[in-house]
Formats: sequence, structure tokens, C-alpha cells
Amino acid sequence: MYLDLSHLKKRFSEKEVVQDLSLSLERGQLLCILGSSGCGKTTTLNMIGGFLTPDGGRILLDGQDITHMPPEQRPVTTVFQSYGLFPHMTVLQNVIYGLKFRAYSKAQAREKGAEYLRLVGLEGYENARIYEISGGQQQRVALARALIVEPKLCLLDEPFSNLDAALRVKMRQELKKLQRDLGMTMVFVTHDQEEALILADYMAIMEKGRLVQYGTPLDIYHQPADSFVSGFLGLDDLLWQPDGSVWKVVKKEVKGESPC
Ligand SMILES: Nc1ncnc2c1ncn2[C@@H]1O[C@H](COP(=O)(O)OP(=O)(O)O)[C@@H](O)[C@H]1O
Ligand SMILES: [Mg+2]
Repeated sequence: MYLDLSHLKKRFSEKEVVQDLSLSLERGQLLCILGSSGCGKTTTLNMIGGFLTPDGGRILLDGQDITHMPPEQRPVTTVFQSYGLFPHMTVLQNVIYGLKFRAYSKAQAREKGAEYLRLVGLEGYENARIYEISGGQQQRVALARALIVEPKLCLLDEPFSNLDAALRVKMRQELKKLQRDLGMTMVFVTHDQEEALILADYMAIMEKGRLVQYGTPLDIYHQPADSFVSGFLGLDDLLWQPDGSVWKVVKKEVKGESPC
């Protein structure tokens, strides 16, 4: 497998916040880690990104053991909830930042930067300042910055949670298309069931530090592992696409409630 997490563990003082987590993912797939707040999603992602050292277990990426590799040496980039952009730099300077440490001339970096800005729908924004653009545009810059270095794996930690509902839906669709077009392997963390069901090729549902179910949305929806999973996913109806991915989540009407 392309990404292999085996028996990952993390403790903070006495509390085991990630317990014996194992899963694997093929290249070019999008994994959603779904669970409620505090269940260990960010801790898991931070171990994959190298920002936290596991207390046990191993992380393999494309055949290489990266468990103890420093984050800047990993072929992995992260898009954070808070974007983490450099406010004093322009949009283009932010996007091409990661190319500084690689063999790119200034002109090549600018050209590649413009290409990635086009990919995320920000053509023409090269010279804008970060504070001049909207939250959604800032998130697109963060995405372009993470993808431009062509990582083997891109991690995203609740990247759309600061955006309003309509924009979140739009960004979700754009991300899925971009991920497929680039064939990028991604791990996307969210507490939003609908977001996970729509984005995921594979879903990992976590509860209190444990992986309670791992599979495709289709598998999980039809055969939830237990009552926790079925309860957590809710009673929504899903509309499927021919390839087995979720097209739409239809909320079931609650009886007795008048529509407003
Ligand atoms: N640096 C830390 N020190 C102590 N406890 C932590 C630290 N980071 C996270 N935790 C705890 O670990 C648990 C899992 O946190 P986290 O991975 O951030 O959850 P999630 O991202 O799913 O909301 C929580 O109970 C949280 O309070
Ligand atoms: Mg988190």
C-alpha cells in the first residue's frame, strides 16, 4: 500500500488519545478521517505530518519509513484550518514559498506559481496581499501552496471549517475535482459527516482515540460496524454516483416538524 499506518499510538500524560490505529491507502485516493471533536483526528494527522512523534507504531509512505523523519524532510504537506499564510507576502510569494528550497529559478517558480493559482481559481491574484482577499480565497492560496511542491501526500485539517456553508460546499467540490485531476493522495480531517461522505474514497471513523470503522462510504453506509457508527452518520439518505461515490446527501424530514 502507498500509505500504511500500523499500530499508531499517542499518549498525552496518562491519556491515550490515539490507540493502536492501523489503516492503509492506495496512491491517488482521498481518505477522510471523521469523528467528533477531541477524538484524536488532529493528533493522527500531526503524526503523519511529523509534528508529533508517535509513542508506538509505524508510518510508511511509498515504501519509505517516515515515522521519525523531521516534518520538513517528509514528502508531505499540510493545509491547516487557520491557513498559516504569511500576511506580509503577496499571494504569489505565499504560493511559491516551498519552491525556494528546490532547484527552481525565480522565473520558473513564478511560472509554476501562476499555474497553481490557475488550478485553484485565483488567476490574476498574483500580486494581491493576503489581507486583501477573502477567507475562501485564502484557503485556496493555502491549498496551492501545499500542492505546488508536488508532495507524495497532502494532509488537510478541517480546512473549510471557517467558511460559510455555501462556500464550504463549493470548495468541497473543487477540492475533489483537483484531487482527482492531479491524482493527489490526500488525508482530510473533518467532524462533518456530509463533507466526509461526499469527499471520501475511504473513510476512517474515529471515536475516543479508536478507529471504529474503515471502508468506502458505500461499505460503511450499508454495513455500519455498530450502533455508534450508524447513529453518528445519521439517518440521511444518500444518492450514489455510478462509480460508487456519494453524489448528494438528502436530509430525511423529521416527522412533526413544520417546514420553514
Ligand atoms: N498537546 C496536547 N497536550 C495534551 N493533550 C492534548 C494535546 N493535543 C491534544 N490533546 C488532547 O488529545 C485529545 C485529542 O485531540 P485532537 O487530536 O486535537 O482531537 P480532534 O482533532 O479530533 O478534535 C483531546 O482530548 C485533546 O484535548
Ligand atoms: Mg482537530
